[in-house]
Amino acid sequence: MNWSTRQLEINDVPILLDWYNNVELHYIANAKKYKPYTLEQLTDYWWEKLSRSNATYYVILFDGSVVGRVGLKKKEKDVEYSILIGIPTLYSKGLGTQVTKYFIAKAFCDPDVMSVYLNVRSDNLRAIKCYENAGFKTTKDFYENHTKMFEMRIERG
Ligand SMILES: CC(C)(COP(=O)(O)OP(=O)(O)OC[C@H]1O[C@@H](n2cnc3c(N)ncnc32)[C@H](O)[C@@H]1OP(=O)(O)O)[C@@H](O)C(=O)NCCC(=O)NCCS
Repeated sequence: MNWSTRQLEINDVPILLDWYNNVELHYIANAKKYKPYTLEQLTDYWWEKLSRSNATYYVILFDGSVVGRVGLKKKEKDVEYSILIGIPTLYSKGLGTQVTKYFIAKAFCDPDVMSVYLNVRSDNLRAIKCYENAGFKTTKDFYENHTKMFEMRIERG
């Protein structure tokens, strides 16, 4: 698949806005209550995120266009992984699995990192399958806002 990645820049925020304000996409990916953003609010939010020293954010480019984003957030010896592809016509074609495998390998390039984990809604079957295909195993379940969630994790091999 013809994809690439680069670090997310503040100029990418207008593309992210459509995804943040898509209520259906929000509840596929999140247990948190939906709240719409203005471009100004989302830009402020991302200025803060991009200033964090423990986290790095990337965009996914497909045929040269930004189609998604990835986050790697370091928490002691673990890295929390997040991914969102915003273009539904790209779903279930293997892109998420390829991108996820790439970022797992990238996270483990840091010798201090012992595991990569993520949290996913238990009803997000496409995401769970993608994570399993990339090597994650379910390690915990818990509730967030009355929504059943799974923690999935991959340990350093
Ligand atoms: C989750 C996401 C990153 C996965 O990326 P993707 O490119 O769609 O995933 P892939 O195609 O690599 O893998 C999806 C797998 O789920 C399978 N699948 C799709 N719908 C499914 C369903 N309802 N039940 C079970 N499996 C399903 C696909 O067949 C595929 O498995 P296979 O390759 O073994 O056949 C992407 O769909 C996305 O961003 N979705 C919206 C936001 C989101 O859910 N983010 C994750 C929040 S934790």
